[in-house]
Amino acid sequence: MLIRTPAASSSREDEVTPESIYLSRRAFMAGVGAAAALSSLPGQAAEAAAYADVEPANAPAWFSGKLQDARWQAITAGNEAVTPFKDATHYNNFYEFGTNKGDPSRYADKLSVEPWQVKIDGEVGKPGAYSLEDLLKPHRLEERIYRLRCVEGWSMVIPWLGFPLADLLQLVEPNGNAKFVRFETRLAPDEMAGVRSGFSLIDWPYIEGLRLDEAMHPLTLLAVGMYGRVLPNQNGAPLRLVVPWKYGFKSIKSIVRISLVAEQPKTTWEAIAPNEYGFYSNVNPEVDHPRWSQAHERRLPSGLFSPNVIPTRMFNGYDEVATLYSGLDLRKYY
Ligand code: MTE
Repeated sequence: MLIRTPAASSSREDEVTPESIYLSRRAFMAGVGAAAALSSLPGQAAEAAAYADVEPANAPAWFSGKLQDARWQAITAGNEAVTPFKDATHYNNFYEFGTNKGDPSRYADKLSVEPWQVKIDGEVGKPGAYSLEDLLKPHRLEERIYRLRCVEGWSMVIPWLGFPLADLLQLVEPNGNAKFVRFETRLAPDEMAGVRSGFSLIDWPYIEGLRLDEAMHPLTLLAVGMYGRVLPNQNGAPLRLVVPWKYGFKSIKSIVRISLVAEQPKTTWEAIAPNEYGFYSNVNPEVDHPRWSQAHERRLPSGLFSPNVIPTRMFNGYDEVATLYSGLDLRKYY
């Protein structure tokens, strides 16, 4: 089942569809004084912030504080059901912790995420090493319910909590030479079993990149939370990118460095198999992966008797990004 979704950036808080999410009075916003946080929200938003199977977390102070004035359901995915928390946190790709889908939830708690610093460098007026707290201070958190489509053919619907990457970039003042943004994941072999493994194809650290205009697009998010709580480690704590119209591997986790650069960066998957994983990697049902079709996706949870296969949509349904690529041959620049 696929239901028509309004253009994501045109969604408003008063257009929310309560059926699209798991509403439960039993559930609470993990990691915050739930009652306090919920009572500070208007009726429907308070309901919306509660997801049925969320596991509690010990949220750091910087997160709890931010939650108080978060904008709930700033963007929704229409009537599409939010993926259960259990699936979103136990079916992961985070190769630093292993290649099996269950490895990140099993091993990522080894990653120490506090304190956390992000280095911002390259073609910017205000380079520096910013603590996560300082980085977040100017920004109000928004809940954005986005589709996530993995290049492997599965998809989820995830309520992220974050702020637009554009807001951060504007503050650090990119100069005229900045044409691309390069992102780097923390590299900590002692804490990352997948990095220590001799079998990995990846030349660590994990690197991703966007064109500057893609990075500045209002849909591009830096997330620090999901399902009303702080990000679990396996989902990329404490800071990850979310680019909803691109295949999931562009959404790099546990970011420690953001560089504004003049040249298109060499990214991890493109370096491994350039004929399979392009720099752009926009979700495109008409351009197949060399080894499988991209016309359909398996929306999780899915099983043998209910595979839940749905058609894949151009730009993952985020049509408003099409103008970024006008004149670009998307078969060549896949
Ligand atoms: N970021 C890092 N550092 N390492 C990874 O292995 N995997 C990517 C992306 N970000 C990955 C990463 C892939 S392939 C996908 S599909 C998404 O993370 C999965 O995000 P999720 O586990 O939160 O669903």
